[in-house]
Amino acid sequence: MTSTGKARAGERPAARQKRVWDKAAPRYDKQMAFFEKIQLGGGREWLAQRAQGRVLEVAIGTGRNLPYYPADVTVTGIELSPAMLAIARQRAAGLGRDVGFQEGDAEHLPAGDASFDTVVCALSLCTIPDPAAAIGEMKRVLVPGGRLLLLDHIGSTWPPVYAAQWLFERITIRAAGEHFTRRQLPLVQAAGFQVVETERLKAGTVERIHAVKPAGSKGHANEEGPRR
Ligand SMILES: C[S@@+](CC[C@H](N)C(=O)[O-])C[C@H]1O[C@@H](n2cnc3c(N)ncnc32)[C@H](O)[C@@H]1O
Repeated sequence: MTSTGKARAGERPAARQKRVWDKAAPRYDKQMAFFEKIQLGGGREWLAQRAQGRVLEVAIGTGRNLPYYPADVTVTGIELSPAMLAIARQRAAGLGRDVGFQEGDAEHLPAGDASFDTVVCALSLCTIPDPAAAIGEMKRVLVPGGRLLLLDHIGSTWPPVYAAQWLFERITIRAAGEHFTRRQLPLVQAAGFQVVETERLKAGTVERIHAVKPAGSKGHANEEGPRR
């Protein structure tokens, strides 16, 4: 990320993110391949093994989870950045995988209520401007009993590491809207999901979450209705 990702006067957060990720798209796969090896520890496989039925991947990026999904799930990918989406389309074609792609904002998902069995979101709640709104939308589009599967880098459980992350994100939030001390689990719980399993790795800086939308739940965050 470069300083060109700084927010411009009057620019909406989503417009800024779109600009940042359109610019980052050509280099993303190369940078991510290195990060995945040292930091993610099989996280993409972990997500994909738990996916079932109609899967919505929110902020699918360049589609780096696509090779891992089982053959019997159908995948729809929503993404803010057209440049990231173009690479995801190429990846799906290369894999011979039929994926439905749509440009859209995680905070206002272009999908009907209770229309997916699984929602996956990887490495994106750290950069989506309002992660609580996005999680609320993920709940809305899940069927009751549906699975929420998250993977992200988060604030460490070790105070010295957390302090370093906090210092680093003083730069990254300003430069590109990228956060390093966010924690998704409290947001998932506040949205009314039942947490099935969680794992924290790498000095508590990486988290995997498998949660379920309770049966009988109306679906919106805190049951207050759609956030549109
Ligand atoms: C670090 S990349 C992760 C991409 C992919 N999920 C992966 O696992 O490699 C973050 C992605 O989030 C997307 N993004 C950021 N804000 C978004 C929003 N509000 N709605 C949808 N996508 C968003 C960016 O365009 C970018 O593709």
